[in-house]
Amino acid sequence: MTPAVEIRDLHKSFGDLHVLKGIDLDVQQGEAVVLLGSSGSGKSTLLRCINFMEEPNDGRIRINGDLIGAERGGKMVYRENELCKLRTRVGMVFQHFNLFPHMTVLENVMEGQVVVLGRSKAEARDKALAQLARVGLEEKAPEYPSRLSGGQKQRVAIARALAMDPEVMLFDEVTSALDPELVGEVLKTMRQLAEEGMTMVCVTHEIGFAYHVANKVCFLQDGQILEQGEPHKVLKTPETSRVRDFLDGHSLFKLPD
Ligand SMILES: Nc1ncnc2c1ncn2[C@@H]1O[C@H](COP(=O)(O)OP(=O)(O)O)[C@@H](O)[C@H]1O
Ligand SMILES: [Mg+2]
Repeated sequence: MTPAVEIRDLHKSFGDLHVLKGIDLDVQQGEAVVLLGSSGSGKSTLLRCINFMEEPNDGRIRINGDLIGAERGGKMVYRENELCKLRTRVGMVFQHFNLFPHMTVLENVMEGQVVVLGRSKAEARDKALAQLARVGLEEKAPEYPSRLSGGQKQRVAIARALAMDPEVMLFDEVTSALDPELVGEVLKTMRQLAEEGMTMVCVTHEIGFAYHVANKVCFLQDGQILEQGEPHKVLKTPETSRVRDFLDGHSLFKLPD
């Protein structure tokens, strides 16, 4: 089967700072991959390269078999209209939800569909309501974001990304800014998406989510994948002391024996 995301020898630098140093990663269709790693290890940069908010300096990315960019003299070149199309195929949800405050929940979820995909308002509305129902917030459609809790706002942001019919969803620490009592509802929504077969790559410090939901866990260290494999293997019997130390520092969640 063609992987949903295939990354080969990906490099990204900011000036002299070499952040991603040769990432190889496959995400199979329907798979949920969790990226772990300490702050500054390059997790966000990797996600941002997968949807080309950042252009890689070297390497190849294929989305469902399609090579993004064109090769010229051994280097990849990217055209902006190609990247715009790509960004609709790879949805992303961030730590801060960035909902438009002057639009209702429904309008927030319709906006990208109308402006970017050119859908009719009627079609976008139906789609938005269906995605809001999927995250359990259909009844909030007429509200303004200021009337929602942080967890509800984040679920609207997820619905907004889903409404674009992405082939892959990227989640960058989407529960990190939430009050602890609101984390569970967002993780539950993400778990449900994974169970429905959505292909997802999630950066999270929620080790329990990684253990119970991920098909694969990757540990990033200094711009490289230090360990990857099935959750029970990486999280219970890590090969390196680096991963063991990291997990010891996140021991609030006790893995089942
Ligand atoms: N736009 C940028 N310009 C310059 N440096 C950046 C930029 N984005 C990230 N970095 C640097 O790249 C490194 C990795 O950052 P990041 O990918 O955000 O790590 P993580 O998400 O794992 O905490 C850090 O040293 C960070 O300061
Ligand atoms: Mg980050």
